[in-house]
Formats: sequence, structure tokens, C-alpha cells
Amino acid sequence: MSDHDPTSSASTPQHLAIIMDGNGRWARQRGLSRSEGHRAGADAVVRTIENCQKYKIKYLTLYAFSTENWKRPASEIAALMQLLGEFIDKQSPMLDKYRIRLKIIGEMERLPAATRQKLQEAIARSAHYDAGVLTVALSYGSRNEITGAVKALAQKVLDGQLKVADISEKTIHEHLQTADLPDPDLIIRSAGEQRLSNFLLWQASYAEFYSTTAFWPDFGDDEFAAAMAEYSRRQRRFGEVLS
Ligand code: FPP
Repeated sequence: MSDHDPTSSASTPQHLAIIMDGNGRWARQRGLSRSEGHRAGADAVVRTIENCQKYKIKYLTLYAFSTENWKRPASEIAALMQLLGEFIDKQSPMLDKYRIRLKIIGEMERLPAATRQKLQEAIARSAHYDAGVLTVALSYGSRNEITGAVKALAQKVLDGQLKVADISEKTIHEHLQTADLPDPDLIIRSAGEQRLSNFLLWQASYAEFYSTTAFWPDFGDDEFAAAMAEYSRRQRRFGEVLS
């Protein structure tokens, strides 16, 4: 257990982003299929949303499917997409209860039509909620996102809507899919790896990074509390010297 006080908002992140890794290893350890690992991973997502409520974290961003994940076996991809649809069906009442807006970043147009439709319905239904934002990265890659922003800016210059001299960090931020979100304060990665894997590369510039060896399906209340306690001990300097 941790001694961190969940009500002291100064030391909790406003925006938490998570690289959910280790579903497959969790399943293999138990002689289960990879899809069963993802199913247990979806339960961990529900616990995490509940924990964000407890710690008053307004923005939660989850890396659920990367552009590279399309290389996985078709059967695993199909099971994941099916699971996402089921998750939306089952958890929409939770979004209503907590007044959480659902947002998707990534190439939504590449998702199967049935999954896309469920997501679009949930996005529309939650569009007016303002207590929290759950962003799910699907077919997402940060380099792909940045490439899109560069293309949009170049087009505006060509069309005479923007001067090259006016391109700034702010205009780049405004052309990313996360334009309406603050930068993440904390990025958690489960299952022991210590890399960003093409997740929020621009946005993560000053984020604290926290890695745990726990596989994602095992990421529960104690793991969450441990991450918050560690975050509250970090001194964030944003490149400055603090007195
Ligand atoms: C990484 O584990 C996990 C994924 C690629 C999928 C994440 C999906 C979920 C947690 C389930 C549903 C998501 C939502 C938002 C409801 P891995 O398969 O790469 O694990 P491994 O590295 O141990 O093989």
C-alpha cells in the first residue's frame, strides 16, 4: 500500500497516459489464449478508469492498438476489435455516470466498420460530457500523427492561410490529434519495457515516465497507488533550475 493522499491534487497528474503491455505474457503464464489476455486487459482498463476518478485525474489516454499492431495475426486483431466493441457496449453507462467524453486518436478509418460505428456512437453520446476525457489510441502512431500535422501545415502555407514564419510549437500542437488535450504529466508502461514505442512523442516532451514489471491485466489498485506515490515524489523542472 502507499502513503499517497489521493485528494492532494497538486501531486497527482492532470493527464495520465498508459502503454498497456503484457496481455500476451500474462495469458501465456496461465496457459490461456492471447485474446483471453486482452479480455483481462479490458478489466484492468475499467479498474484504471475507477482509479482516475478516485485520484481526480481528468485526462486518461490509453495506447490500445498501434499502427505496428496491424502486423499481428488476423485472428488476434479480429478478437481485439470485437473486444473493443463489447467494451463500449458494456462500459458506456460508466462514461455516463462519470460524465467522461470518449475520444479516439489514430487512423479510425482503418478500423472494421462495426467497431468504428460503435465508437462513433459512443463519441457522439458522450460529446457533451466535461468531467473527464478518455482518449483511446487505436491504429495510432506518433510519427504518423506528426506527419499528418506537417502535411496540414504545408497545405495551409500553399493555400496562403499561414506564413512559414508563423509556424510555431503552438501551431504544431494545434494540428496534432491531441490539440484539445493538455500534454501528459505521467506516462506509465506495464510489463517492464522502458520505451515509448511511437506513443505521444511530441506530447511526452516533459512527461514523467514510470515503468512497472506488472503485466497489464495485473495492474490493479496497488499498482496504481504505487505509480501515484512515485509521481508525487518526482520534482518536475521542465528544463528549469529550481531554487
Ligand atoms: C499489449 O499487450 C496490449 C495490446 C496490444 C492491446 C491492449 C488492449 C487492451 C488492454 C484491451 C482492450 C482495450 C480497451 C481500451 C478496452 P501484448 O499483447 O503486446 O502483450 P505481450 O507483449 O505480453 O505479448
